[in-house]
Amino acid sequence: MTKNIVLFGFMGTGKSSVGKKLAEDLKMKFVEMDSVIEEKENRSISNIFSKKGEKYFRKLERNLVKKISKEKGLVVSTGGGVVLNPDNVKDFKKNGILVCFNASPKEIYKRITKTKRRPLLNVDNPLRKIKDLLDYRRPYYDKIKIQINTTGKDIKKIVCEIEGLIK
Ligand code: S3P
Repeated sequence: MTKNIVLFGFMGTGKSSVGKKLAEDLKMKFVEMDSVIEEKENRSISNIFSKKGEKYFRKLERNLVKKISKEKGLVVSTGGGVVLNPDNVKDFKKNGILVCFNASPKEIYKRITKTKRRPLLNVDNPLRKIKDLLDYRRPYYDKIKIQINTTGKDIKKIVCEIEGLIK
């Protein structure tokens, strides 16, 4: 596979766990954007948000998209907000098969409450915030043609679904 497979979708929709398995299966290199940013900056995403702000984070994200969208044969797990900048989607489209995950707010809530690593959801009412952000972002996610609902599905099933779709 010379094209990249790029996974989009809201936080907690399964991009990282599915992406890792998919890359293993297809013998492709897996890139988790948030992890690359954390490594480069030598601090956590939460720390970047609290010390430098979201705008700064979005710049780091944008620069990383410019770089990895030029590579080949990657499975990329993007951060949930990557779609907010249309240039990011445009760049990935040049050499990528784009797939967007979605899940119900309740399922997302169930998945993300296990960790504190999502600064945007570190609020008093995370379920409300998930619903609000999803409403705002829906038009951005909807621009991606291949959509997969991950609610109630295990990793293996989602990987199979993607493999079937990209053949
Ligand atoms: C964000 C999603 C996070 C991370 C950051 C912002 C977002 O990535 O990039 O906390 O704006 O939706 P995941 O989708 O991998 O959790």
